[in-house]
Amino acid sequence: MSDSEHRNSLTITDNRTGKSYELPIEDGTIRSMDLRQIKASDEDFGLLGYDPGYLNTASCKSSITYIDGDKGILRYRGYPIEQLAEKSTFLETAYLLMKGELPDKERLAVWTYNIRYHTEVHTNITKFMEGFRYDAHPMGILVGTVGALSTFYPDAKDISHEESRKLQVRRLLGKIPTMAAMSFRHSLGLPYVAPDTELSYTGNFLSMMFKSMERYYKPNPVLEHALDVLFILHADHEQNCSTNAVRSVGSSNVDPYSAIAAGCAALYGPLHGGANEAVIHMLNEIGSIDRIPAFIKSVKEGSGRLMGFGHRVYKNYDPRAKIIKEIAFRVFEETGKNPLLDMALELERIALEDDYFVKRKLYPNVDFYSGLIYQAMGFPTEMFPVLFAIGRTPGWLAQWIEQVKDPEQKIARPRQIYLGEECRDFMPIEARPKKIVDEAKFGMCRI
Ligand code: CMC
Repeated sequence: MSDSEHRNSLTITDNRTGKSYELPIEDGTIRSMDLRQIKASDEDFGLLGYDPGYLNTASCKSSITYIDGDKGILRYRGYPIEQLAEKSTFLETAYLLMKGELPDKERLAVWTYNIRYHTEVHTNITKFMEGFRYDAHPMGILVGTVGALSTFYPDAKDISHEESRKLQVRRLLGKIPTMAAMSFRHSLGLPYVAPDTELSYTGNFLSMMFKSMERYYKPNPVLEHALDVLFILHADHEQNCSTNAVRSVGSSNVDPYSAIAAGCAALYGPLHGGANEAVIHMLNEIGSIDRIPAFIKSVKEGSGRLMGFGHRVYKNYDPRAKIIKEIAFRVFEETGKNPLLDMALELERIALEDDYFVKRKLYPNVDFYSGLIYQAMGFPTEMFPVLFAIGRTPGWLAQWIEQVKDPEQKIARPRQIYLGEECRDFMPIEARPKKIVDEAKFGMCRI
């Protein structure tokens, strides 16, 4: 190792053997595979890192989104989220995420046209949707229908061709709002509304959601703009749970519809995209401002979490939550105040002063106020994670493309620490003792 290489390295001494190893440090990171050479004996497999939930493991190199969680900074392709929220549109931001640069007028027009062109869905998707029960959760419907798109576009399997990838990107961005709106109308038994290509991306989505008997649906410009900004705020968030799911499933070289369906499924969970829905349930359960202290006490005692608070990466106020809080007030001027707002504000005030939350650096995240806005706009709570999915789709797609083009990426296949039984001989069923399941160990019910 040269002097400068030595200065950029980590020396590890294995106290089991007394041997020392120098591991290169690149971009503030060591390669986990460099640990493999560290062995206690010749038969030893080599040292592994143990990191459930990837708390300190980088799974890829990416140029899309930058987050500094301590400072509360979020940038897409270098542009601060605050500037994009104020000056950009969702489709323009989607272009930026995908291509790395902001478009000029002509490119934006072509991009917009191409996505609008793909807003309709095959009529068999409509029939597929009819198979869901009347009370099916729209997010479950979205997971299923996005996955089903892979059967409509078998050409999408050709992930190595740029033109094919571009086509799937346009199709997905075009069809996600259509299928999202269909999942909502299905639950109400309402007829589906065809896309209106005269409207903006977000205006068209509102039309497909809420159009009734009127000949032309005119979205309220304040609400249309607010929703567009919310989509921008959700558009990417580097290696979060659902993006990791997209990359992990995509690493098998499956088509992007299957990979994005995996992202939707991951987003469905209450610890991720389902949190905005959970916030509303939580506020309803609390019921009134005077019951907040008792609720906070119960959270501190470990019975449940304060939904919409805390983040793996942000140990400061989530910059998206700050913007959303501002938008909330503008939306409420149009729609009237959401009655849950006062409770949310009081909950935030108390939590931000409470030692439990301060010590753990738990601040409101993107989901704390977004649900209040969605509710005031007329979206039912079940639609909240679906709205998150529409916003996150360009991020998932940009990350998927980055992965497909990255020569260092391989099929995702973590290691494990095996703690199970040693090798043992198969016992014929007649010879087995009556109860072989150790209930205490596995926590299972009686068999
Ligand atoms: N309420 C009460 N305590 C909490 C909360 C919360 N919302 N979040 C974390 N904690 C506590 C947790 O109990 C633990 O305490 P201790 O050290 O005493 O055991 C400590 O803070 C660290 O928590 P953690 O679970 O190790 O943190 P994490 O990074 O694994 O989890 C999180 C991050 C977002 C899953 C978690 O904060 C949470 O469950 N929040 C509520 C759900 C939520 O709002 N999710 C939306 C996230 S933002 C949207 C998105 O990007 O998906």
